[in-house]
Amino acid sequence: MTSIQQLFRVDGKVALVTGGTSGIGKMIATALLQAGAKVYVTSRKAAACDATASELAQFGPCVPLPADISRLEEIRRVADHLGKTESALDILVNNAGTTWGAPIESFPEAGWDKVMDLNLKSVFFLTQALLPLLKKRAAAQSPSSVVNIGSIDGLHVSAVFDAVSYAVSKSGLHQMTRVLASRLVKDNIRVNAIAPGAFTSKMLAPMLDRMEEDILATIPMRRVGEQDDIGGAAVFLCSRAGAYVTGVVLPVDGGVTGCG
Ligand SMILES: NC(=O)c1ccc[n+]([C@@H]2O[C@H](COP(=O)([O-])OP(=O)(O)OC[C@H]3O[C@@H](n4cnc5c(N)ncnc54)[C@H](OP(=O)(O)O)[C@@H]3O)[C@@H](O)[C@H]2O)c1
Repeated sequence: MTSIQQLFRVDGKVALVTGGTSGIGKMIATALLQAGAKVYVTSRKAAACDATASELAQFGPCVPLPADISRLEEIRRVADHLGKTESALDILVNNAGTTWGAPIESFPEAGWDKVMDLNLKSVFFLTQALLPLLKKRAAAQSPSSVVNIGSIDGLHVSAVFDAVSYAVSKSGLHQMTRVLASRLVKDNIRVNAIAPGAFTSKMLAPMLDRMEEDILATIPMRRVGEQDDIGGAAVFLCSRAGAYVTGVVLPVDGGVTGCG
């Protein structure tokens, strides 16, 4: 039996967190570092990657890896780079995502393509490109872990946000999670999703500014999520503690979907 201190550790593991420079991605990168992993963080902005890596170095080895993962050639570059610098990848957190708010009547094609490309297409093709590295160290007792960051807006119909492509992309991501989990279990790769509720971030800040009361009114716990809420869920899914869990979508949402 693993000691309770070791159960939630990820010492010696190598992780990639997309969009690890801000919001939920930075919270997860911080938690994985604290639990013992070496963590690569991507975002489009090199300066943000460098700043995050310097800030999070207090918790462990954090490596900046700037890339626009909405582009397939950039995905290939990330996979090539990691293939040269690491012998294996143990944890992939597909977190980078975007949204587009507009009424159905005037919803533009650009708001469909941008959201689908980053929230769905890039998750699939980044995971595909990293499969050889994810397989390298994966074993029955120590499976590799892919964590997709979905959303409660892919589980229920939001009462406050008008963002149809976002909701559809996250619902699709939850189903992609189950399909990949079923196909990759033979390779000792687990695939799960976290469906966050409201967490303070660059993406949510403008909406919290405009309608914090309305948003809090929809949350049974009457608060937004914090670092420990998402960090705890991510470390669970990536450590020995979650090694028997695959194909699940875990809401971390203050009771929005569970108490409805
Ligand atoms: N915050 C919430 O309440 C909430 C709720 C449910 C689900 N989520 C999900 O959680 C995830 C993170 O959202 P967040 O709210 O934390 O957002 P955020 O603070 O806006 O962070 C998004 C991150 O993704 C990066 N990114 C954006 N486009 C990228 C691209 N093409 N290539 C690489 N990196 C890119 C951003 O960096 P650059 O801009 O430098 O590229 C940033 O690091 C998303 O998938 C979102 O849908 C969030």
